[in-house]
Amino acid sequence: MITDIINKKRLGKELSYRELDLFFNGYLSGEVKDYQMSSLLMAICINGMTDEEVFSLTKIFIDSGDTLDLSFLPGVVVDKHSTGGIGDKTTMVIAPIVASLGIPMLKMSGRGLGYTGGTIDKLESIPGYRVDLSEEEIIHQVQTIDVVITGQTASLAPMDKMIYALRDVTGTVSSIPLIAVSIMSKKIAGGADKILIDIKYGNGALLPTKKDAEELSSLMKKIGKIYQKDVHTIISDMNTPLGYCVGNSLEVMEVLDILKGKELDTNLTKLCITLASELVQMAKGGLIQDAQDMVMEAISSGKAYDKFLELIKAQGGNIDDLSVSKKYKYIKAEKSGTVDKISAIGVGELSMLLGAGRKTKEDSIDYSVGVKLYVQVGDKVKKGDILAKIYYNKAPRLREFKDIFEIK
Ligand code: URA
Repeated sequence: MITDIINKKRLGKELSYRELDLFFNGYLSGEVKDYQMSSLLMAICINGMTDEEVFSLTKIFIDSGDTLDLSFLPGVVVDKHSTGGIGDKTTMVIAPIVASLGIPMLKMSGRGLGYTGGTIDKLESIPGYRVDLSEEEIIHQVQTIDVVITGQTASLAPMDKMIYALRDVTGTVSSIPLIAVSIMSKKIAGGADKILIDIKYGNGALLPTKKDAEELSSLMKKIGKIYQKDVHTIISDMNTPLGYCVGNSLEVMEVLDILKGKELDTNLTKLCITLASELVQMAKGGLIQDAQDMVMEAISSGKAYDKFLELIKAQGGNIDDLSVSKKYKYIKAEKSGTVDKISAIGVGELSMLLGAGRKTKEDSIDYSVGVKLYVQVGDKVKKGDILAKIYYNKAPRLREFKDIFEIK
């Protein structure tokens, strides 16, 4: 029966709810083995899924755990998710901005596999910051200070945790239907009324093209409709790293700068303002321009910065102890001209080599290392100017990374 289901998908036929349920819940109980699930996931990757299959699988993932009831929170509860990218620290910027405007932000984030840690790893670079809050602690904190950023509780869509770990090591991460099921099941189980998804495409993203991102967007909206969730999407470019810093502690430092009102014209800050304004409009209604004015005021008044410090303190972190490695090297321009390209994947691979990310779930992360860019695309540079500062503990061979920058 198990092999019949694999064969059916291999031939590109539609699986019924019953077949998917049997297979995926069989995996959860240990009856279906890793190699059988890997085989089915690869068949899905190659042959895709019908909308009906996606809806069935999303339900199976949601039903594998609990669904949070957030109806005790006042007003519209919003949530935000990103499909991930190099230097993506948007959650840490947006959550305090939105919360400082009185909109509750209960954000459960993941650890990262890949070039840098996920949001949770980045926050853990702040000594003492706890990411394992219980459901009671989460609820208490969101009721008292409007903002929580913690790890996902074990009871929320546990099926996704198991399947994602397997997808990661079987080359089946970049399947559009599987990404839609993974993200939407967690978001729906998370209990928000309205969901904003930042879908990224490009060489540093899961999806290579804008067309792929649009396809994922449409699928996610269809899933949202079934659960009466208002799903908004923003499609953004991930060919260039987001902002100046890639690496865990470094990224928290960049967030502090942005919330202090510095670095307001980077690609990162522009995206954060777009996402935060969209969330404010989703929660409060009104015009997008009014929402954006509120976001800018939250930054310029220092309210968002204070909210970030309040969040860190509430979760046990000590921001004064945040640090980066004392060892560093520079990458310098080999000629004069205009910076035409900064490869997101190139910076990602370098930060991985430095130890800022993990290849397997068991790897540990070096929070203190990473890459700080000194230039953005379009900047004019002279030969010998510093392009990036590389913080390391084990000296990297930088010659291999000289193609990160293209100067024309
Ligand atoms: N993020 C997720 O949570 N799941 C995916 O499948 C891809 C990105």
